[in-house]
Amino acid sequence: MNLFLRQDKCHFYNPIEFVISASIILYCFLRKTFSKTLKYCMMDFLNLAKNRYSSRNYKTNPIEEEKLLKILEAGRIAPSAANLQPWIFIVLRNEEMKLRVASTYRKEWLRVAPVIILICGDHTKSWKRNDGKDHCDIDISIAIDHLTLEATSLGLATCWICNFDAKKCSEIMNLPTHLEPIALLPVAYPADSVDPERHCFQRKKLEEIVFWDNYKY
Ligand SMILES: Cc1cc2nc3c(=O)[nH]c(=O)nc-3n(C[C@H](O)[C@H](O)[C@H](O)COP(=O)(O)O)c2cc1C
Repeated sequence: MNLFLRQDKCHFYNPIEFVISASIILYCFLRKTFSKTLKYCMMDFLNLAKNRYSSRNYKTNPIEEEKLLKILEAGRIAPSAANLQPWIFIVLRNEEMKLRVASTYRKEWLRVAPVIILICGDHTKSWKRNDGKDHCDIDISIAIDHLTLEATSLGLATCWICNFDAKKCSEIMNLPTHLEPIALLPVAYPADSVDPERHCFQRKKLEEIVFWDNYKY
């Protein structure tokens, strides 16, 4: 019997009411499922930057390949001195390799991340100024910032890690000498959160760091 004709027994006695109710349920479901993604999609750059933070508490959920590729693409398009792009991104997803590399850093929380990106600098490729200054670290830093911000925009957590044993990491990965392991970047779904307005007290005030027209000391 037609669902809509059973007025005495069925709650949805009229098709319009049925459509409205179904739409509300669908809306609630989509909102719950995609609210985080939507939040970041609609953010301007400053808000995105404010929402990035060093997360050290991760869920073990795997990271979708599509999201990983977007993060890596953000790194790929980063600017570099003379456009020399002296970077290599090694994505560690294999549990055994990931744990071996994580052992070069003393904190246990790194091991929980489902993905760790090892970012290496190629000193044979980076631009050197006339006075010899190697711009490799600067280029790598920009690329890592792109990685972290894209991850944030996808609702994912990261944390720069430079305080690891780079020599041991190099040995584990069997890297050639011209490649320097510069940072480890865990990528994970966060199991923590921070207040995006924390910079009010966690960063220096603008007056302390900005000088207009000349530097006064
Ligand atoms: C170059 C660099 C190296 C860092 N190395 C580490 C590290 O080895 N371990 C760690 O827990 N955090 C590390 N951090 C994260 C900083 O502690 C963090 O960015 C800083 O305290 C500001 O906090 P926020 O990232 O949450 O805004 C590093 C950050 C940068 C930029």
